[in-house]
Amino acid sequence: MFSFSVTVLVLIQVIATSGGQSVSDERNQQMCVSVGVPGVPGSPGVNGSPGRDGMKGEKGMNGEKGLVGDDGRQGIKGEEGMKGEKGLNGERGLVGDVGGKGNAGKIGPQGPQGPQGPQGPQGPQGPQGLQGIKGETGRKGEKGEAVTLNWKQCVWNRRDGKDSGLIQNCNFSKHDNNSALHVGYAGNLRVLCSSGACCSRWYFTFNGNECSGPMTIEGAVHGNPANDNPHRHRQIEGYCENIPAGQVTIGFNIGNCNKWRSTIYDGYTGDLSVSRIMIAEVPPSQK
Ligand SMILES: *[C@@H]1O[C@H](CO)[C@@H](O)[C@H](O)[C@H]1NC(C)=O
Ligand SMILES: *[C@@H]1O[C@H](CO)[C@@H](O)[C@H](O)[C@H]1NC(C)=O
Repeated sequence: MFSFSVTVLVLIQVIATSGGQSVSDERNQQMCVSVGVPGVPGSPGVNGSPGRDGMKGEKGMNGEKGLVGDDGRQGIKGEEGMKGEKGLNGERGLVGDVGGKGNAGKIGPQGPQGPQGPQGPQGPQGPQGLQGIKGETGRKGEKGEAVTLNWKQCVWNRRDGKDSGLIQNCNFSKHDNNSALHVGYAGNLRVLCSSGACCSRWYFTFNGNECSGPMTIEGAVHGNPANDNPHRHRQIEGYCENIPAGQVTIGFNIGNCNKWRSTIYDGYTGDLSVSRIMIAEVPPSQK
C-alpha cells in the first residue's frame, strides 16, 4: 500500500511539468520579432486539459500478516433449523438366544359346566348278570276281570254237505309272537259208508297251513255201514304254538283220512244245530 501511493504521486508531477514547458517556449519565440516597450506582462494562460491516464502500475508485494485480534463476543443464538428428512430403516437385528422355561402358573378356578353333549352310540350288550334271589310271596289280590284275554268265536247254523275242503274261516288278530292259539270246533259231524269202513278227517288250518307247532289239530271220524247215519255232536280242539303275531285266518276243513286212506267219503258238517269255532290267545306253554 505504501509503495503504490508513491508511484501515483510521481506520475502526477511528471504530467504537470511537461505541460508548463510547452507554453513558455511559444512565448519566447514571439519576443524575438519586435522590440518595443515592454508590454505589460500578459495574463496567465488558461490551464491545459488534463493529460491522459498513465499506464497501470505493477502489482505491489504482499503486505505483512496482521496481528491476531481478540476473540469476539459470543454471538446471539441462531434460529432453530428445519426438520430433517426421515431416516432409512435400520437393519434387522440378530435373533437372541431362547430363554429358559418359566415356572408353572397357578391353577385357575374351575370354569362353569359346559352344555350337555349329544347322545353317544349304544354300547355293546354287557354280560348276563347273576340270577337274583327269589322274592317274597305277594299278597293275595282281589279277583279281577279277564280284560287281557284275547279271544274270539265264529258261529254258523248251516247244514254243509261238503266232503272235502274248507268249511268255515274265522279271522283272528294275534297280539304276541310267542303266545299260543287255543282253537276248537264244536258241532255236529258225520261220515257215511255204503260198504266197508270209511273215514273223514276235520282239521284246522292257520293262514292255509296245518299246525306244525307241535303237530296238526284234527279229528278223524270213522264209520261203517252198520252205523246207519251217525250224526253226532263232536268237539275238536288243540293248541298251536308257532303262529306269529298279526292277522291269522283260521280255517275249519274236511278231507280224507289221508294217513290211512285216500278215499273221500260222504261227510256232513253241522246238522240241525249251531257250529262254532272258538279261538283264544294264551300265554306260552311251560317248558
Ligand atoms: C279274513 O281274512 C282274509 C285274509 O285277509 C280275507 O280275505 C277275508 O275276507 C277275511 N274274512 C272275513 C270274514 O273277514
Ligand atoms: C314279531 O316278530 C317279528 C319278526 O321278528 C317282529 O318284526 C315283530 O315286531 C314282532 N311282533 C311283536 C308284536 O312282538
